[in-house]
Amino acid sequence: MYCPGCCWRYLARFYRYWPVRVIFLLWMFFTVSFLFIFYLGHSNNGVSIHVGWGTVEDRKIKFDAIKCTNLTLTSLPVTCQLNRTFSYQEDIVSPLRIPYDILAGAYPRFRKYMSIGISSVRRKKTNYLLGTIQSVFHQTRESDVGDMVVVVYLADWDLAVREQVVREVSENFREQLAARQLLLVTSPRVAYPTLEGLKRNYGDSEERVKYRSKQNVDYAFLSNFCAGLARYHLVLEDDVHCSRNFLLSIRRKVEAYSKPWTTMAFSKLGYIGKLYHSSDLPALARFLLLFYDEMPCDWLMDHFFHSKAQVELLHMKPSLFQHMGSYSSFQGGANPLKDNEFWEGERLSRENPPAVVFTDMEAFQENTLEKAYEGSGFFWGKRVTNGSHISVHFKEPAVLRRVRVLTGSPEHSGDILRRGLVEVGWRGAQAGNLDFCQMYHGIGHFIKGTLDAEGLGLGARSAVDCLRVRVIEDQNEWLLVSDLSVWIARAGNATDVHKEPTK
Ligand SMILES: *[C@@H]1O[C@H](CO)[C@@H](O)[C@H](O)[C@H]1NC(C)=O
Ligand SMILES: *[C@@H]1O[C@H](CO)[C@@H](O)[C@H](O)[C@H]1NC(C)=O
Ligand SMILES: *[C@@H]1O[C@H](CO)[C@@H](O)[C@H](O)[C@H]1NC(C)=O
Ligand SMILES: *[C@@H]1O[C@H](CO)[C@@H](O)[C@H](O)[C@H]1NC(C)=O
Repeated sequence: MYCPGCCWRYLARFYRYWPVRVIFLLWMFFTVSFLFIFYLGHSNNGVSIHVGWGTVEDRKIKFDAIKCTNLTLTSLPVTCQLNRTFSYQEDIVSPLRIPYDILAGAYPRFRKYMSIGISSVRRKKTNYLLGTIQSVFHQTRESDVGDMVVVVYLADWDLAVREQVVREVSENFREQLAARQLLLVTSPRVAYPTLEGLKRNYGDSEERVKYRSKQNVDYAFLSNFCAGLARYHLVLEDDVHCSRNFLLSIRRKVEAYSKPWTTMAFSKLGYIGKLYHSSDLPALARFLLLFYDEMPCDWLMDHFFHSKAQVELLHMKPSLFQHMGSYSSFQGGANPLKDNEFWEGERLSRENPPAVVFTDMEAFQENTLEKAYEGSGFFWGKRVTNGSHISVHFKEPAVLRRVRVLTGSPEHSGDILRRGLVEVGWRGAQAGNLDFCQMYHGIGHFIKGTLDAEGLGLGARSAVDCLRVRVIEDQNEWLLVSDLSVWIARAGNATDVHKEPTK
């Protein structure tokens, strides 16, 4: 039943208890005080009073004053610093304005098909950089070399080390530097973010965190530098062996792939053989810098393509790049990882016919000449003197289409044949059943440790019995034959064998 007087009666009953009375009076006091202050603050006589927390306007001004005037704050808000309007193009999409020093070579005149970025740190034990650069150029056809530019970022802060590397590279790759196919760059230390006192994610040691964080910045700076150089950008490490004609293989894979992609991988390992669109490089550089202290570079690179909605790594088989080093650049640790999907290239297509091989040079350990000829390894000979030879006696006479002998290797780029030539030989009419050759005919000299004679009508188109590599000058270095390949035009014919060579 509705009773208007009941409420008040109940309240009056409670009010009789003294704690209720006290709370009520306090509440009344605060309400009245607040209303009074509010009235004064907004009265139009302009007086504003400060009751501990200040008015809304007041607080805003104080806040801004702190941001803009206290220069000791570590990061000033951008609006106080920049005297220009924000531009999406310039501030987000364009390459970052990082200072670079070009140590050797020059910026190419035209945009290339592919830039190849190698970040290099000097290792204590073995150095692979020269071998890597050599492999990149060596394994590219002459007609393709003009389509690429190799950028080596020297990430050592030690000036002496850097100068030495520049000297070595300049001596060995004069032509490529002059042709604007090779560039050595670096960035000053001051451009780097701090590497001290960083987070220790994944329980990594302080040294490890420092090392991997710097490496992220190295690769960020390198990618940023390469942004305008080409259509595609390939990331390599400084201890890599390339497969024959890798550029052509990549080009074919890219052309055949019709869906959108961010990262293609031509190796399973680390940062080796990852291909990007050059237009993505400024974003990649920013990405690596943004998270430089969080995790290793290869993990970040994976996060990058995920962020650009590529679902999984596009691993293009076979792998075109092999990891050569067995020493990591981090504290000289061992890093013997190898890519088991690596395919050397044309070496598998060779047609070496059955033959007996021998040499007068002593093989080092198990690196015998047979292995080089079979393609299952390499030959490493110890005493290389004027007159030393490597001889191949074919079991059946063969007409040769092409002969290729490669010496040295990325890991032992010094162990090349300095001066020597390749010859083909015949047993001769009178001694048809002798197991050695009497007459020899030179088909070419080694240039920079390489001989590749092709389409010469070798041995004047007649079948030959022997192939010989002859050393014509003593050398102190050992001789490493990494490839000894022969291609045959057609099967030999007994009637050809006894023909005199026509020169
Ligand atoms: C300005 O910076 C100095 C040094 O960091 C600091 O001691 C001071 O409190 C700052 N002033 C204000 C108003 O924040
Ligand atoms: C800011 O820009 C204006 C116009 O571009 C220029 O006149 C002025 O000197 C600039 N101020 C500073 C501090 O650079
Ligand atoms: C190598 O030996 C040949 C023959 O013995 C000789 O004619 C030639 O001058 C030697 N070459 C060098 C560089 O000593
Ligand atoms: C070998 O040469 C003879 C005569 O020149 C010819 O008749 C024969 O077809 C040749 N055989 C092969 C396998 O080339």
